[in-house]
Amino acid sequence: MYKYLLKPLMFLLDAERAHHLTILLLKLLLFIPGTKWVFKKLYATNHPSLHRHIWGLDFPNPVGLAAGFDKDGTCFDAMAHLGFGFIEIGTVTPKPQAGNDTPRLFRLPQDGALINRMGFNNDGVEALVKRLQNRKNTGIIIGGNIGKNKTTPNEHAVDDYLICFEALYPYVDYFVVNVSSPNTPGLRELQEKEPLTKLLTSLMATNNAKSSPKPILLKIAPDLTLGQLDDIVDIVLTTQIAGVIATNTTIDRSELRTDTSSIGMGGLSGRPLQNKSTEVIRYLNKKSNGTIKIIGVGGIECPEDAIEKLEAGACLVQVYSGMVYTGPGLVKSINKALINKAY
Ligand SMILES: Cc1cc2nc3c(=O)[nH]c(=O)nc-3n(C[C@H](O)[C@H](O)[C@H](O)COP(=O)(O)O)c2cc1C
Repeated sequence: MYKYLLKPLMFLLDAERAHHLTILLLKLLLFIPGTKWVFKKLYATNHPSLHRHIWGLDFPNPVGLAAGFDKDGTCFDAMAHLGFGFIEIGTVTPKPQAGNDTPRLFRLPQDGALINRMGFNNDGVEALVKRLQNRKNTGIIIGGNIGKNKTTPNEHAVDDYLICFEALYPYVDYFVVNVSSPNTPGLRELQEKEPLTKLLTSLMATNNAKSSPKPILLKIAPDLTLGQLDDIVDIVLTTQIAGVIATNTTIDRSELRTDTSSIGMGGLSGRPLQNKSTEVIRYLNKKSNGTIKIIGVGGIECPEDAIEKLEAGACLVQVYSGMVYTGPGLVKSINKALINKAY
């Protein structure tokens, strides 16, 4: 239904509009009695071999929804009906911000890719907290992906991350520190050794002062040099954060078939990112002798892509762009392929 009906219709619309319309349709559908049952039959995969116990959390399966799809926590309840093992909301910032001017999301169908320069558009952490307080008990694992406001200088970035961490602490199961979006000027500079160590040390100190600390992960860019990746391994091991999400979108467009000169700046996701992100996972895994827990994300559009990331060293995977191109059935197809496999 997605491939032959919904996708052709949605691809006639501007990509951001289509995104919001899809969510609206999903929410409306779920109001119809019986739809939840149908969705369960269509999209859920329940099998004990898919369970993962990581960071003290029980993941019903290893396939998650990547950050950026539900930035404001408006649809995780609905998305939970599509078979995901966990959902990451955000990136959220302390204050609401509009993000960049539209259009800011572009499809590259020839490449199975997206380019976005959303710029952390979000309603701010207070609004997100209110929505999470009304969370229906779906039992789904929720990650909170946190960032800084565009107007906050990097010297004060720690404050922004701490504000988001404290506000979300009672409501999410794990945290992701996003320092890798290419769409907030200067943000990626926070991936350098000194500012990153400072940021993660502050967050870990606050976390460890809680009666039950939560897993904190770092989301990195796929464009880091090997030297920078070596630093990441050091920092993760010394600050003892729970793991890494590899990777965010890339600024490298060298592999593209589509001419993107009229699109302008933005992060590239989907198929052209696939190998790049897998190589980052493989490198981190090898450098750390398998001691760093990695969530693999980037260009997964079929079960084989997910398996490649798990074989490279990821313990969980996330999808976003691949779902836009292939539909929500992607989650089930990956899970089915993972049944009774020892990844
Ligand atoms: C429209 C869009 C918005 C995104 N927003 C965020 C975000 O707010 N925070 C974040 O950490 N990653 C964000 N991402 C990156 C994704 O979470 C993911 O890391 C990236 O798209 C690679 O996965 P994919 O190839 O499966 O899409 C966004 C991606 C897209 C396409």
